[in-house]
Amino acid sequence: MLETTNPNNMTTEEDNSTVVINGEVLGNTQYMAQVIQNTTGADMFRIEPKTPYPTDHKILVDLVLEEQNQKARPELLNTINNLEEYDTIFVGYPNWWGDMPMILYTFFEQYDFSDKTIIAFNTHDGSGFSRTISTIQELQPNAEVVEGLSISCNQIQNAENEIVEWVNSLN
Ligand SMILES: Cc1cc2nc3c(=O)[nH]c(=O)nc-3n(C[C@H](O)[C@H](O)[C@H](O)COP(=O)(O)O)c2cc1C
Repeated sequence: MLETTNPNNMTTEEDNSTVVINGEVLGNTQYMAQVIQNTTGADMFRIEPKTPYPTDHKILVDLVLEEQNQKARPELLNTINNLEEYDTIFVGYPNWWGDMPMILYTFFEQYDFSDKTIIAFNTHDGSGFSRTISTIQELQPNAEVVEGLSISCNQIQNAENEIVEWVNSLN
């Protein structure tokens, strides 16, 4: 979740949620996904809510807590029409309050990943995956869920090689 698009004069919170590559501001998980895409040549689907999240950190943090408490299922902005064409899907998300964002629940409830391999990756600020791998397995009991790479937001700026090496080490 990009909390700013301005690479200059970031607050600590904005800095924690972004990585600046060649002057362009990307979300941490978004950047990780791009490196994976560049390494694999995979197609990319961005899990985005119909109602955009606020960029103000404090408002975002409160809203996310409320969504978790309410077990909200934010609507996806886009749909995937050709999931059957894919056997292996990398799915990435930030750690939000020790869980994945609620829209990931929407995503995994809306699509059937039976007989597919889900390689989960995430970014965080100390909590790693929390218990999200088990949660994804519960939501997709007929998929093979692989615990992939988890990168701290403090490391992401210099993590390109680590991500590439990890992708290349798979299968
Ligand atoms: C609402 C919110 C809640 C967060 N909760 C946690 C947490 O519980 N544990 C943790 O390690 N990091 C937490 N973080 C930090 C993010 O996981 C971290 O900054 C991540 O890299 C953000 O990725 P993004 O830029 O793709 O959104 C939280 C961040 C936000 C905005």
